[in-house]
Amino acid sequence: MTLGAIGLILLSLLLSAVSAPPLAAFLPVAAKGAMVVTSEPFASEAGVQILKQGGNAVDAAVAVGFALAVTHPFAGNIGGGGFMVIHLANGRNTVIDYREEAPEKATRDMYLDGQGAIIPKASTVGSLSVGVPGTVAGLAMAESEYGKLGLRTVLEPAIKLALDGFPVSHALSESLRHYSPLLSRFDQSRRIYLRNGNYYRAGEIFKQPELAATLELIAQQGPGAFYDGIIARKIVATMKQYDGLITLADLRNYRAIERKPLTGHFRGNEIVTVPPPSSGGVALIEMLNILEPLNLGPPDAYHSIHLMTEAMRRAYADRSRYLGDTDFVSVPVAGLLSKAYAANLRAAILASPPDSPIDAGNPMPFEGPDTTHFSIVDAAGDAVSNTYTLNGGYGSGITVKGAGFLLNNEMDDFTSKPGSPNMYGLIQSEANAIAPHKRPLSCMTPTIVLRHGTVRMVVGSPGGSTIMNTVLEVMLNVLVYKMDVLHAVTAPRFHDQWKPNALFLERGRFSADTIARLRQAGYTLRFLKSMGECEAITVNPKTGWRFGAADPRGSGEAVGY
Ligand code: GLY
Repeated sequence: MTLGAIGLILLSLLLSAVSAPPLAAFLPVAAKGAMVVTSEPFASEAGVQILKQGGNAVDAAVAVGFALAVTHPFAGNIGGGGFMVIHLANGRNTVIDYREEAPEKATRDMYLDGQGAIIPKASTVGSLSVGVPGTVAGLAMAESEYGKLGLRTVLEPAIKLALDGFPVSHALSESLRHYSPLLSRFDQSRRIYLRNGNYYRAGEIFKQPELAATLELIAQQGPGAFYDGIIARKIVATMKQYDGLITLADLRNYRAIERKPLTGHFRGNEIVTVPPPSSGGVALIEMLNILEPLNLGPPDAYHSIHLMTEAMRRAYADRSRYLGDTDFVSVPVAGLLSKAYAANLRAAILASPPDSPIDAGNPMPFEGPDTTHFSIVDAAGDAVSNTYTLNGGYGSGITVKGAGFLLNNEMDDFTSKPGSPNMYGLIQSEANAIAPHKRPLSCMTPTIVLRHGTVRMVVGSPGGSTIMNTVLEVMLNVLVYKMDVLHAVTAPRFHDQWKPNALFLERGRFSADTIARLRQAGYTLRFLKSMGECEAITVNPKTGWRFGAADPRGSGEAVGY
């Protein structure tokens, strides 16, 4: 080797030593025992604390669910709802559906005026947008059926965070200020979250004594306090203050429902995911079935984006036409999930030009992730994948007086008017029309991937209509492209939901060549700041090591031990 060559090598070694970030910055968090990944660091710590006290993944999930209601009021909640997918190391898989439901007085056309036009914001802001909350019932059911420590113990971290307070992060400070137009409309929200205009700055301590008292009541009396006791009466009083529909009978009648998960198979992996009333699981499995035998080529390049986009368009078109709450309408789930149906769709994709013209809908707001997901694997191999939400950021904007928590605006997920888009630009059908006690169609897609019966991956994301596409892309990054979980959640994302007729790409994340080829092929491109916030875990099948990654698009944290 010449002196010049040696010099070049030394220089490049020196430069890489000086300029390269530490390698650990590009690695997922690794742990031999357990892993908790949530969208907020204090909530991740709450989950780990409960695991170290001898709890299992379900105990940790319930602790995280309540802790996020304190530290992440944007989407963490006790006034909303969601879905929890559970895998137990003994082989049992189950789903807890704690989606909100329409109150008894809700009617099919409640968001239409006398001329049949949608009343602006009626389904998204204020009392009429609120569905009967399911979170407390769902978390309590998970704890009593599958937890070990009991509700009192798993509520302790959340009660402490609410009582003693926690330092406001930069992200929370910015978010509260950003949502001040919504929160300032309602006196209790203005007082608690905006301090009547004296906005919280990063580093200040945020204490929530009323929320602490509410959580303490649930710890002492169980979910009955929320659905038939003091808290229920406070919810009803707040509803009366704002001319809302929810009554004590609605709260008393609410039940979380344990459902059989949807299962699918993709290249030797078993997919365990959420059934209706979420559309997420159906769409995810339908897309995986379409893509399974195809050679996708390299990630984030024209060919893979084209094939995945065409799968997305078909799954979202089916969602729009067929999906609703299966306790009220019949949904052809078996057909939508069949490999033969997927083969027909695949053949049509391969035989037709990209992006055949489709009617335009309204643009999607894509305001950012407005739901929250967490993934947990414990040392024994139990796993929880949980997505829950208030729907929009800070939900309806209404805080229950004297109880310190926000109420959802989930009613907007129903079809206000067939053919008109909801806040996510989704076009929906009669199958998702409003009816008393019906649950609105969701996109939430908490999912667990098993390989030979043990956990391979736990995954999910917020992001409204984009959720199942985020989950699909992160799964393919791991299962097809063999990325580690941090690269899988960090990789660029794209989204197509059939209507509006547009392919959305994260801005600045795709090559000029890919963008040019997609345009040439006929796709109408739009650009997003970012898409979703996936919190994911993978498990190495040989060593059992757990690898966690909090999506860098958010400010969450993976904590393992
Ligand atoms: N609220 C958003 C969803 O359930 O999909």
